[in-house]
Amino acid sequence: MEPKPKVVVTWPISDKALALLREKYEVAVNEKEEALSPEELLGFVKGAHAILCLLTNKITGEVCDAAGSQLKIVATMSVGFDHIDLAATAQRGIVVTNTPGTSDNAVAEHTITLMLSLAKHIPLADKFVRQGKYSGWDPKIFNGPELSGKVLSIVGLGHIGSRVAHIAGFGLGMAIAYTDIRPNPDFESKFNAKYFSVDEVFSVGDVVTVHVPLLPATKHLVNAARLSTMKPTAYLVNTSRGPVVDEAALTDALKRKLIAGAAIDVYENEPNITPDLLSLENVIMTPHTASATFEAREAMAQKAVANILAVLSGQPALDLVQAK
Ligand code: DGY
Repeated sequence: MEPKPKVVVTWPISDKALALLREKYEVAVNEKEEALSPEELLGFVKGAHAILCLLTNKITGEVCDAAGSQLKIVATMSVGFDHIDLAATAQRGIVVTNTPGTSDNAVAEHTITLMLSLAKHIPLADKFVRQGKYSGWDPKIFNGPELSGKVLSIVGLGHIGSRVAHIAGFGLGMAIAYTDIRPNPDFESKFNAKYFSVDEVFSVGDVVTVHVPLLPATKHLVNAARLSTMKPTAYLVNTSRGPVVDEAALTDALKRKLIAGAAIDVYENEPNITPDLLSLENVIMTPHTASATFEAREAMAQKAVANILAVLSGQPALDLVQAK
């Protein structure tokens, strides 16, 4: 009997998702709930026909070669794919897939949570209470802007940006400004939204939220020049990828109070964070958890598995990532 093709899974995803793979394939799972080191990864992928990876696994040409020439697919359990060397995979004829649509709601809810937390000073107010400083109702403390009627500038109108527009526009009553590769008339009529160029959109928002993939063209899209056009009362929110924002420029803008604040879930050199950010009170930071809902995690795992099942059975990938 022919040996079963091998699928390696770099993190212990749900039993339900793994069971689907185990029905047809030999499955090796990294049971440690932490990222494999680059060296461990090279050894772990050996003999794989499919690699199911996380965004913390750098997939290089060397990793593909360590797997062997039978490797057909790298399925990342993430929407982002900037950790995969697409030139190297394309050169070797390896299909790359991601998990679009699985975390739109989770990331949009996190984005809205961060916006509201900035406006309502939630982390500082929580700290204040815990420190025993609350001595009675005080009309002066922790005042902030209402979001209703304010302008939300959305940079990047993919699935997540659109979902943020839906919640912020219909739920919070915010006016929507946006920028994208091109204007989207359907979106404009549905949300009464206004299109701006990427250079203009920063200046019109009371909150600017970023939802673009990390590509060579989007690295440092949020830079010192664009930050300097923002209103001094405005907030920046980034739940996309760290390098989309020039972290040094953002730190400087926050220190000089050029903008009112920022909330960031992603960092330029994860898991390292610009040390000065840690001592600033006008920034809220979360540890790349925007998609951390039970629902999204399961959907992400299932989608990565569905892509592997399709490709290993000779079908087209469901979510093919292509080098841009
Ligand atoms: C993604 O899917 O790319 C997210 O960043 C994971 O949280």
